[in-house]
Parts: sequence; structure tokens; C-alpha cells
Amino acid sequence: MRRVIRREAGDAMDLFQTCYDYHEPVFARAAGIYPFFLPLEGSEGPVVTYQDKEVVMMGSNNYLGLTHHPRVREAAKQAIDQYGTGCTGSRFLNGNLDLHDELERQLAGMFGYEEALVFASGFLANVGVIAALGSIPGTVIFSERENHASLIDGTRLARGEVRLFGDLADLERQLAAGGDDWPHALVVCDAVFSMTGRVMDLRRLAELKRRYRFKLYVDDAHGIGVLGADGRGAVYDQGVRDAVDLLFGTFSKSLASLGGFVCGEKRVIDWLRHKTRSLIFTAGLPPASVAAALAALGVMRDEASALRTRVWANARYWREGLDAIGYYTMGSTTPIVPAMIGSESLAFRVARDLLDLGVFAIPVPYPVVPYGQSLIRTSVMPTHTRAHLDHALDAFAQVRKRYDIPEFDPDNLPTADHEDWSWFMPDQAKSAQPAA
Ligand SMILES: Cc1ncc(COP(=O)(O)O)c(C=O)c1O
Repeated sequence: MRRVIRREAGDAMDLFQTCYDYHEPVFARAAGIYPFFLPLEGSEGPVVTYQDKEVVMMGSNNYLGLTHHPRVREAAKQAIDQYGTGCTGSRFLNGNLDLHDELERQLAGMFGYEEALVFASGFLANVGVIAALGSIPGTVIFSERENHASLIDGTRLARGEVRLFGDLADLERQLAAGGDDWPHALVVCDAVFSMTGRVMDLRRLAELKRRYRFKLYVDDAHGIGVLGADGRGAVYDQGVRDAVDLLFGTFSKSLASLGGFVCGEKRVIDWLRHKTRSLIFTAGLPPASVAAALAALGVMRDEASALRTRVWANARYWREGLDAIGYYTMGSTTPIVPAMIGSESLAFRVARDLLDLGVFAIPVPYPVVPYGQSLIRTSVMPTHTRAHLDHALDAFAQVRKRYDIPEFDPDNLPTADHEDWSWFMPDQAKSAQPAA
């Protein structure tokens, strides 16, 4: 006879009930302001096609505009001709190409490390490496609270101890409380925070490292390509290469492809090559993506100084334009420029109106930012012309006026303990509310 496991009342809920009760997207769609998974029909870089209409792309990570560079496109096409479309297996087994090895050699050379290891995505690199190192018995991971989800998930898989820190003073307090010798600890942080463009003070972190002797892992997904000499990123920009034991980067932003990598000392990379599950138990990065990344790295080395000059000029023009309209851009100093909106559902509304006005930008609500501090995340490319940026500024000016978006006081930002859905509710949205 089948044994019936008794549950407490309330536990015996249908497994899918949580999914059935998830109404936010339903409301947002009904209100006509659902902003995610929008199917783009084509792209020329700074201009994309959505619903047969050309809109200015202000929401990408294409910081050097290389996704459409002739050298990068051509390399991807040639790789398909030579190797086919996929690796059909793990790099560990049948899916390793001479192209992967060449990419690793070039990355190690470019970033000044003994070796590099290439993964099928940046997410897989972070999650796998942090989980592997964090599972070595005795490891303590110190992870910045605002770190990217892939780092957070790595710490969740790590079997060792994980501690969060808010800022570097907090990190120092926690380190000091445990003495001054932390060679078994790994401090993990983003160099440039992806939504706000905030740059981590890596010099201060390097000073802490000298004092407390921990190991340091830096995710420079958003700095590589745009910051530092030759675009070698925040680590070079701040002159702290020697303090960074493991440097993470991705090909999915400035390097115009897909895939991620970690650079470090030879013996550590070799250990990771044999112990990182997200490298071993997944198929290798496809040939076209490897070749595109290699070509983009070449462009970044040989000819990107003009592109960088343009992206920084555009970043400045764009940020000053938003500031002049009255948006709070959170002190951004990078090509990522946030514009604070406040209410979560208003950020959705604003993104939709921008799209109608011919501008693609991304709403960022809780939990990525605190309640009541939703923003529109924008970023520029060197391939944006002044006409593109002026068109987008005009759209931002119109929506600010339309919704009376306040001038936020950085010392007194709004606080709330729940999401504001009021912009989902007017009109049609109400009729989509499921019956009680
Ligand atoms: C800071 C940061 N790290 C890691 C990743 C993951 O990179 P990928 O998109 O290559 O998986 C991202 C991408 O969103 C990111 O912003």
C-alpha cells in the first residue's frame, strides 16, 4: 500500500500554486507596459528594429560597438566554415578547439596573468569558480552585497562559510574582528556595478589585502574594454593588477560575443580546469563565438583607442544631458548611466513611453535596487551619433515632464517596504486581476 506522508495544513499546496499566484507580469501586460523579453527584429548596433520600427538602443552593454565591426563579423563567419556551428561536447572531452586555447593565450597576455580559462558564459565562469574555491575546506568567502547574481549563486553553491559585506569599512571591521591573517579567505567583488555604473575602490581593497593577506577575485565585466590603458579594465585603471589574484571578464559586453573567462596563476587555473563543474559538465563555447571574441580582443588592442575616446565623449554628453533635464544619474562616471524614477511600476510605464518615442531603455526595479528607487538603466556606445543621443534626450525630457519625475536628493532617497504597483492598476490592468 502507498504510504501517505502527512503534511501540516498549508504545506499541502499544489506545487504550481506559487506560479499561478504570480500576477505582476499579468498586470504589467494588461496595462501595456510589460518591458521584458521584447523581440527585436534586427540590429545595426545603436539602432534596433522593434515591431517594424527603428528605435535608438540605449540599453545594451555593447560599450565598444563591436557586435557589428566588420573584422568581428567576418571572423565569426569564417569559424563556422572551418569548424561548424557547435562543439557538441565539453571542452574537457571532445569540445576543445585550438581556437579556445589561442583565446586563452591571448587573454593571459592581454591581462598580464600566467593563464586564462574560457567558459561558455560569464555566468558559468563566476558560478563555477566561486563554488569550487568556496568548497575547499576552511575557505571563508567575503562577498559584496551588490555583487552580480552569478557571484551570489556561486557563493550559494560553495560549501564553505560565506559572509556578506556592505562597504569596505564593513569588510575591514569583519576582517579585523578575526585577526590579521586571512590567506584562507576569498574576497569577491564587482569592479563596476552593472546597474548604477558605481566603480569599486580597488586601491583601498588592495591596501586591505596587503594588511589582511586574503585572496582577491574581481569581476570586471563592465570595465574591460572601456576603462584603463588599452581597455584592460578597472584593475589596470586603478593600478592594482598585482593585488588581484583572479580576474574575471566576459565576452558578452565590450567583446561583442558570448562566453566568460578567468585569469590567474598557472597552478590555480590548472586546478580550476579540472575542478570547475560549470566548465566540465557543459558544452564548449561555439566556434563562431570564440572567433568573434578573439577578433574583438584584437580590435580592442589595435584600434579601439578612437572607439574609447568616442564612448567617453558620448558618456559625458549623455550624462550631462540627463542631468540638465533634471534626472538623478547617481554620480555615474562610466558609460552606464542610470536615471532614477522611484516607483517600480512608473519605471515600467516610463520605459514603455520611451519605446513609443523611439528609445529602448531598461527599467530596473526591486530587488535589483531598493524599494522606491527604481531606475532606467542606460548606456552609450561609440557608434551613437549626436543625433541618436539628442533624439533620446528629447524623449527622456518628454517623459520626465509627463510624469513629473522628482529631482531626487542623494542624501535623502525614497524608502519603502513594498513595491508600488499603482501604475499597473489604472484602466485595463484592474480587469486582469484574478478573481479572489
Ligand atoms: C557584473 C557581471 N558579472 C557577470 C555577468 C555574467 O556574464 P554573461 O552575460 O557573460 O553570462 C554579468 C552579466 O550580466 C555582469 O553584469
